[in-house]
Amino acid sequence: MKLDLSFVRSQFPAFSEPSLEGWAFFENAGGSYPCKQVVDRLTSFYTQNKVQPYYPYPASQKAGALMDSAYERMAAYLNVDAAEIHFGPSTTQNVYVLANAMRPMWEDGDEIIVSCQDHEANAGAWRRLAKRGMKVIEWHVDAETGMLDVEVLKGLLSGRTKMVAFPHCSNVIGYINPVKEISKLAHNHGALSVVDGVGWAPHGFPDLRDLGADIYMFSSYKTYGPHLGVMYVNGELMGKLENQSHFFKEGNPKGMITPAGPDHAQIATINGILDYFDALYEHHFDEEAIAVEKNRALNGLFREHEVALQETVLTFLRSRDDIRIVGPEANVNRAPIIAILPMEKSIKRVYAGLIKQQLMLGIGDFYAVRPLMDMGIPTDPGVIRMSFVHYTSEEEIAQLIRGLKETLE
Ligand SMILES: Cc1ncc(COP(=O)(O)O)c(C=O)c1O
Repeated sequence: MKLDLSFVRSQFPAFSEPSLEGWAFFENAGGSYPCKQVVDRLTSFYTQNKVQPYYPYPASQKAGALMDSAYERMAAYLNVDAAEIHFGPSTTQNVYVLANAMRPMWEDGDEIIVSCQDHEANAGAWRRLAKRGMKVIEWHVDAETGMLDVEVLKGLLSGRTKMVAFPHCSNVIGYINPVKEISKLAHNHGALSVVDGVGWAPHGFPDLRDLGADIYMFSSYKTYGPHLGVMYVNGELMGKLENQSHFFKEGNPKGMITPAGPDHAQIATINGILDYFDALYEHHFDEEAIAVEKNRALNGLFREHEVALQETVLTFLRSRDDIRIVGPEANVNRAPIIAILPMEKSIKRVYAGLIKQQLMLGIGDFYAVRPLMDMGIPTDPGVIRMSFVHYTSEEEIAQLIRGLKETLE
């Protein structure tokens, strides 16, 4: 079974939008196109249910039911309980709140390990705890490859380690870290594992029960949906966190770590991502399945398609002496997030040339400042990043390679 790309692309309004015609989108790690189910859900909520939810009149009841269903369906896809899912405004804000909620669990002098491969979202808020009595230990990346080494982590763990924070997949290096192994290692030392899944989730929702992280976060505006941060917190751990909301939210997991009123419409719109995944599953498979099985099947389709496209891009890049791939060069355990540095021409000129070729991609540090610093790469101008997902076509990849050739000549 192969991914039916014309069906996939028919689900995304951007691919039939006249103003985007001719432009190939390679800044997906910054934020993906939304699927039509998401656009429709948001429109219908704003037109039919934009009232306070959970009152007894019909529009309000429906609003509340739509929100509840978002928690339940997202949890089912991720293989966790609905009470373990939280929707905050963004991953950055979710980590900020978590750092404050978790600090009282620990004694002065306790240790937390934070990776230097993270986007600043899963970095700064933890490091700030150094000013509040915690000992913060940095898990540096390899200066050449940008990769995290589990052997190095082993040397950092101690009897006082309380948490290890790291990314599932870096938003610059693109390497997929062994989350299960790292989480187990953390647990063996009595520490929690806190995973930034923002870079990985667009390429396949994880089975969180299987993965074993205590906290896993991603941003739904990068997974074809509305602008929210999705946060899984293990139910047992939730009971130990300090309430970060109104005093009367104490004991109510839905409110405690998402202070302020949630964005009702966007939460309801999460259903649109899952409508899209359900539609994809039904289009490709005949057998009835529960959400977690559908997810596994879809992940297989996404991965096969993305790995094939990635092979074409990496093979081309490796063939050039005038380009450095930032991060591992092999198409192994890698997501299609590929950062490059031109070696002969100025990066800004190359970038400008790529835009002229109607390629939408990014330049800069992508808030992955610490990994770039560890690798000795100046954060200004940073790197050129091309990132793609399952809806990317071979034609777009060909346009990317043509554009790179043209610009580098
Ligand atoms: C890997 C990674 N983590 C975290 C974030 C921050 O997400 P948010 O914008 O939801 O705060 C980003 C955003 O680009 C990211 O790429």
